[in-house]
Amino acid sequence: MQRFDTIRQNLLERIAAEPIPRDVLKAPELKELYSGIGSLPPEERGDYGKQVNELKNALTAAIEAREVELESATVEAIDTTAPWDVNSAPVPLLPTEQGTIHPLMREIEYLSDIFARMGFATEESREIDDQYHMFESLNFPKGHPARDDWDTFMTVEADKDGDQFIAPAHTSTMQNRMLRKYKQNLVGGEPIAVVVPDRTFRNEDLDARHEHTFYQIEGVYVAKGVHAGMLVATLQTMLEEYYGKNLNVRINPYYFPFTEPSFEFALSCPFCEGKDPDCKVCSGEGWIELLGCGMIHPNVLRAADIDPNEYTGFAFGCGIDRLVMMKYGIEDVRHFESAKLDFLRQF
Ligand code: PHE
Repeated sequence: MQRFDTIRQNLLERIAAEPIPRDVLKAPELKELYSGIGSLPPEERGDYGKQVNELKNALTAAIEAREVELESATVEAIDTTAPWDVNSAPVPLLPTEQGTIHPLMREIEYLSDIFARMGFATEESREIDDQYHMFESLNFPKGHPARDDWDTFMTVEADKDGDQFIAPAHTSTMQNRMLRKYKQNLVGGEPIAVVVPDRTFRNEDLDARHEHTFYQIEGVYVAKGVHAGMLVATLQTMLEEYYGKNLNVRINPYYFPFTEPSFEFALSCPFCEGKDPDCKVCSGEGWIELLGCGMIHPNVLRAADIDPNEYTGFAFGCGIDRLVMMKYGIEDVRHFESAKLDFLRQF
């Protein structure tokens, strides 16, 4: 009897305290009670069995009551965005252990903010795409020799037309989607104005200036009467905001299948401002060839069902890693993806 009472007492306490009260039914002392019946003289078994049953029923009832209680209990939500008092941490933390934003992500937010103030929306790219978006819609027909200039990573698997999938080698892979998504703006007399900062991938030989994974920011602007002067003004404004100083800019003719005319855009070295013949950023040239741009090719507008006789536009694609490297005098692009804490802790 004594034993029954102690076991009941213990188990009822556990039911009240445990997160999953039903687990208490698996307690070894209960099993022991059940199996104990076999070792009793026959005349005592009836009574014993009744007591075991009665205990089991009492426990089950307590469990059910507790389950109802747990279900209706209100759990106080944790506000994961609440400010956190660093000094209350049990062990003092280094600044980087509190979690910081990767320098590239922070600069991307900064760039996107500059563009937002000029009226550009920001969209994301993707990490796998098809040949239509990476090439065809950008006026590179199948077999076009310029396709080879992009050192593209492709999948082994192909789609039903035998085309392999692509890890985008430039953010221009998003141009057709952006033109289609924002085409409605034109009907309302508003421009299409979007930037797409995101990851890009190229199968290149790696060195201090080349990384297989890097970032670009694509810009697309379409309206009535857009001309190259607006392209230059937009890029110059963006760069002067980014570096916080006046800069000289220069354009040279270039070739891309998806812009006509195409330009290579250079800016006066924001690091030495052309004053240091030994500058490690511009090698004493005073100029940095920074990005590709141009007036959107009529075929690219047509591929998005936009009439090139009515609308014109400009596009540009700028390497973000280089922008950031020049801002902070970072000498090796590979630092960004290296996960080196010594490097990251500086930001
Ligand atoms: N996509 C080109 C590159 O990666 C840059 C570019 C973008 C050029 C848009 C013109 C217009 O080199």
